[in-house]
Amino acid sequence: MKSRIKIALIGFGKMGKEVNALCEDSRDFEVVSVSYKNINDKLDVEGIKKADVAIDFTSPDVVIKNIEQVGKLGVNMVIGTTGWYDKMDTVKKLVSKNKIGLVYSPNFSVGVNIFFKIMDFASSLFAKFPDYDVYGLEVHHKAKLDSPSGTALKIASKVNGLNFTSIRAGRNPGFHEVVFDSVADGITFSHQAYSRMGFAKGALLATKFISNKKGMYPFEHLFKI
Ligand SMILES: NC(=O)c1ccc[n+]([C@@H]2O[C@H](COP(=O)([O-])OP(=O)(O)OC[C@H]3O[C@@H](n4cnc5c(N)ncnc54)[C@H](OP(=O)(O)O)[C@@H]3O)[C@@H](O)[C@H]2O)c1
Repeated sequence: MKSRIKIALIGFGKMGKEVNALCEDSRDFEVVSVSYKNINDKLDVEGIKKADVAIDFTSPDVVIKNIEQVGKLGVNMVIGTTGWYDKMDTVKKLVSKNKIGLVYSPNFSVGVNIFFKIMDFASSLFAKFPDYDVYGLEVHHKAKLDSPSGTALKIASKVNGLNFTSIRAGRNPGFHEVVFDSVADGITFSHQAYSRMGFAKGALLATKFISNKKGMYPFEHLFKI
């Protein structure tokens, strides 16, 4: 029988629990370690050493420290935590110094990554037609810390002149909308996550991908055409 990929979960909040639930029903993955079940806990270093891949869904406050510590153990990582992209150079250095593999994304949903591709294409078309203004809206549940979302920043990096308005209220797991609008007409693109399951499924896709690789990859790498 094929052996299962061993996962160390770092962070056991909404996303950590969602990934754990998928692993419980999976023949491909097993969770061998959980860190930060409580905020005052330390990293479960002994457990992480036994894992093939550590998946981090924590917070911008602690994620870089986690990458440092897990990197030293030589364990590959999937980083779902957002709000740290200003430290991209530091993380690149840690990945290369420790010779680990790392996949990161502000959004592991397959649908959103297809949305990113559509935005690349839309951006190249609308660039030829300056009559169109562009604006964005993103809505997330009130507990989300970063604003605008990492996903919104990623979309904005693809489309010239795009700024997002952010709403933090209620329970929405993630809504992103981009509108191209002119005097004559408008086109609206939007993505609505229905639950956190899509993010967790994508994080496991990324886990499989990075389980036997070194180097740093955005999750978008898996959607190259
Ligand atoms: N990439 C994606 O697809 C995706 C999708 C959804 C969310 N996210 C991102 O993933 C991250 C986690 O989201 P979530 O909804 O799971 O959040 P959450 O429910 O607040 O869970 C965060 C987890 O990290 C722990 N934690 C937070 N700060 C910590 C610290 N300073 N030291 C140690 N542990 C700490 C929390 O412990 P306590 O419970 O004790 O506070 C909890 O276990 C956020 O950055 C969010 O934006 C990414």
